[in-house]
This record gives sequence, structure tokens and C-alpha cells, in this order.
Amino acid sequence: MGSFDKEIQRRRTFAIISHPDAGKTTLTEKFLLYGGAINLAGSVKGKATARHAVSDWMEIEKERGISVTSSVLQFEYEGYCINILDTPGHQDFSEDTYRTLMAADSAVMVIDASKGVEAQTRKLFKVCAMRGIPIFTFINKLDRDANDTFDLLDEVEKELGIATCPINWPIGSGKGFKGVYDRKSESIVTYSDTLKGTKEGKTNVIPISDEELVAKEIGEEAKEKLFEELELLDGAGSEFDLDAVRAGKLTPVFFGSALTNFGVEIFLENFLKMATTPIARKSQGDMIEPTSDEFSAFVFKIQANMNKAHRDRIAFMRICSGKFDADAEVKHVQGGKTMRLSQPQQIMADERKILSEAYAGDIIGVFDPGIFSIGDTVCAPKMNICYEGIPTFAPEHFARVRQVDTMKRKPFVMCISQIAQDGAIQIFKELNSGLEEIIVGVVGVLQFDVLRYRLENEYNVEIRLDPLPYEHIRWIEHSNTEISKLTGTSDMKKVTDLKDRPLLLFVNAWSIQMTLDRNEGLVLSEFARN
Ligand code: G4P
Repeated sequence: MGSFDKEIQRRRTFAIISHPDAGKTTLTEKFLLYGGAINLAGSVKGKATARHAVSDWMEIEKERGISVTSSVLQFEYEGYCINILDTPGHQDFSEDTYRTLMAADSAVMVIDASKGVEAQTRKLFKVCAMRGIPIFTFINKLDRDANDTFDLLDEVEKELGIATCPINWPIGSGKGFKGVYDRKSESIVTYSDTLKGTKEGKTNVIPISDEELVAKEIGEEAKEKLFEELELLDGAGSEFDLDAVRAGKLTPVFFGSALTNFGVEIFLENFLKMATTPIARKSQGDMIEPTSDEFSAFVFKIQANMNKAHRDRIAFMRICSGKFDADAEVKHVQGGKTMRLSQPQQIMADERKILSEAYAGDIIGVFDPGIFSIGDTVCAPKMNICYEGIPTFAPEHFARVRQVDTMKRKPFVMCISQIAQDGAIQIFKELNSGLEEIIVGVVGVLQFDVLRYRLENEYNVEIRLDPLPYEHIRWIEHSNTEISKLTGTSDMKKVTDLKDRPLLLFVNAWSIQMTLDRNEGLVLSEFARN
């Protein structure tokens, strides 16, 4: 165990997953507010301005005022050192959003109380569930009229397939939202007006046994309703079980309103106690403990061309064990070279800070002269490890790509393959054909623009993109019949990826089911292990 054990134990590294507009940004701001990192919510990550400041390095971003990258926020709260991984979610949803989840030890799922489980939450949840990391649910916007609490819990259980355990319970919603009932302390917690969350609200805690005081605080009607719901509550959701939470089988559920601060601090305190310290990671079948003496990390994201003039790239690494020391030499396992990491930095929302040290659980960005690939392992020279690669995630948008100038075929194929290597896009070719016909797949449509931009600006290649109607792709994990003989629906297409693995493209989910039904023993997967 390293002497820096304490530093590692106090770290909590998590991602916030949600559908756009559920309140991820607002909740992050409130965490920072309680952590004392900012005095006034909104000053660090106020949407357009701060996001713009983070990444004014790419023309597309400048033109559109959005960020294609994701960043990390680090702050202190009551002795904890918290790393929040930002998962890009609006137009900039991409494979990087999924990859970022691979660097997190737990996830906070924000759900809009009037909308329930939405599409993007479902997608991100799947990736977290695949990893079996703990997932904490914050049901937000209780200051607006909300869906019935029992229905919300039911929806999470049925739609996502995870058991729920409400840690607290909302008292009313919309104009009638008074606060929450805390099940553990058996008290109600009400809040004073927090002036839209610019000040920390004063809380009032009353034991539920003091019925008179409770009625005085929230009104007779709200009290009656609360008591009725609490009686039913024992039948809803599951018993709290920390082991099940840590195994990602049970999600503790909290209610609140990020905008007005209701329930944010209760959430943060409970979450930090329940969430895991940095978790051990798998290397060739062995688990590498975070508190190991030696430094190790893996690359989960590469940001290409942060500065066009230099074609520079930043490799984002998650430290998995030990302490990172900027002066020490490290080994890049895949490249077989020992080196010093260049310009190690912490990429915050609105600034970059050069780092001299960091610990397991932290994320660092280092200058990449073009040697790193996604999933690579970097470690102390004497270590002999190689972390499991990052899966390839199913793209959802597809297009046929051709270069306008047919004379430039060779550079075109080379460039597009390079961009695919960087992990910005995925390329496929038809089964049993060469690279004459290139199909590009992306997780978020913006990646098409990124592709076009990079080809035109970096490589001087003009392209034509013809959208294809496919929306689903599945890797073939197992098939009883030869791939070429598989029978699917008429609109199904057989392709292979860069590693020559066979895949099927489908226009809709119905075709997937049909194909599975028609081919006994066929096993399809939404991820490809690398
Ligand atoms: P996101 O990052 O998940 O996309 O969501 P974000 O926090 O940006 O919130 C989306 C909108 O929802 C914002 O309003 C925000 O103020 C609002 N919001 C967030 N939490 C709550 C809440 O607890 N209660 C209520 N009533 N609203 C909430 P906007 O009008 O789109 O932006 P803004 O102009 O207010 O910043």
C-alpha cells in the first residue's frame, strides 16, 4: 500500500448521466456551490459562456458555440476530493460520451420528474449497467408539477431493469413542494426560499413522530398525503442494501430541485458515503488495486487537433493506481517505449492547470504527439500490466462516404482510416468487398461534420456524404451459420469493421428481432470488446 493511500481513499470519481435539459448542468453547479468552489451558482459552468471558453480551439465549436470535448471538474467537499466527468449530451453526444463513462467509478442519473426515463438516459444507463458500476438517481425539478412518485420509481425499475430504493420521499410537487421526508432519520426536511438557488437554503428538520409540528410546517393536507404515501412506501422499491448498490443492482433514489437547491446537499452527503472509492481495474485477468505503489493509467479519450497549427492532440487518462509524478518516467505499454508525459494537465471547465502530481481516481490530459490510442495503458516502467481495452459502441447514424476528386482515392482512404483510428468515427465496408465502398457510422450526427471538417482542413480532401437509413448495428458474437448465409430482413446489410469483425446493419429494432428469430443460435451485441 502506498503512502498516498489517504489521498486515494478520499477520491470519488463519477459521471452525471441524463437526457438533455433534465438538469445535469444545474446540479453540477450546485455541487460546486456546496463544495465552495464557486460563490454563486452559474459562474463556473454557465452554459454558453463557460463551455465556449473551454474549447475555442475548433472552428466547428466556435461557429456553433458548443463543445465537442468533455472536461473534468475537481473540487473538495468535506474532506472528499471529487472528480466529476462531464458527459457531452446535447448535439455533441458522441462515442466519447460513452468512453467517458469507462473512466468513472459511479454514475449519478438525473431524471426530470415530469418526464421520467428518457432516451439518452436509457442509452447511458446501459453502458453503466454493462460495467456494473453503482448508479445513484436524483429525480429533479420537484418544484414543477411532477409525475406520481410511485409511478416514477416503477418506470425506473421497469424501463431500466434496476431495483430502486428511495432514500427520501418528496413532499408534494410544483407550487406545493415543501421538501423531503428522510427515511433513515424519520424526519421531514423542509427548506426556506433559496432565491432560485443563489443562496444556500436554510433547512428545518422535524421528526415525523411530532405530527402536530409536521402539520404546522407543511400544512394538514400535505401531511395527510405524506402519511398515506409513507404507509404504501414499504411496499414500493427494495430494502436498502449497500452491497447491491455497489454492485450496480440497486439504485438509491433521491428527490429534489437543483434549481432551488432543494435536496441537493442531502443527496451529495449520502452519495459520497455510499459511492465507492476508486475501484480496482482489470489487467490481463488480474485486478490492479488503486492503492498499489506503482502508477498506472489508461487512455479513454483523445482530443485531436486542439491547435490546428500544430496538429496537437490531448490524450485523457484515468489514473487507476498509485501516484502520478510529472518528473517520473512512465512506460507506454502498446508503444513499448519509456518516456516522460508531456505537459500533464488538469482540464477544468474553464481553465487548464499544469499538474505536478495526481492520484488514482484523477483524470489527467497529456500532450500526445500521435502515439496514443484509445484504451492504451501507461504505467511505471517496472510494472507488467495491460488494462482491458475500451469497447466499441454501436453507432446510430450511418452514411456512405466518397471523395469528390476520384484521383485522391489513396489519401482519402488513408485519412479516413486515420480519423477512425483516433476514435472519432467508425468505418465499415461491405462483407467480402474492399474499401471501395466506405460506410461511416457515428454515435452523434455532429461527428459527420467533424469528419468533413477534418478531411477538408487537415488533409485537403473534399467528400460527399450520403445518409443511409440504418439506425442499429450489431456485432455478431456467435452464429451457427456462415455469416454470408444468415437470413435477415430485406433491408438488413452485412458489413465488417476495421478489425474484420462481422456486423449487421438494421433499419429498425423490429428487423433485429426478426433476424434473431430466423437464425437459431445467433447472438448479437451492442458493444464490441477490444
Ligand atoms: P442539462 O445540463 O441536463 O441539459 O440541463 P440544465 O441544467 O441546463 O437545465 C435545463 C433547464 O432546466 C434550465 O432551464 C434549468 O434552469 C432548468 N432546471 C434545472 N433544474 C431545475 C429544477 O430543479 N427546477 C426547475 N424548475 N428547472 C430546472 P433553461 O430555461 O433551459 O435555462 P436557463 O436559461 O434557466 O439557464
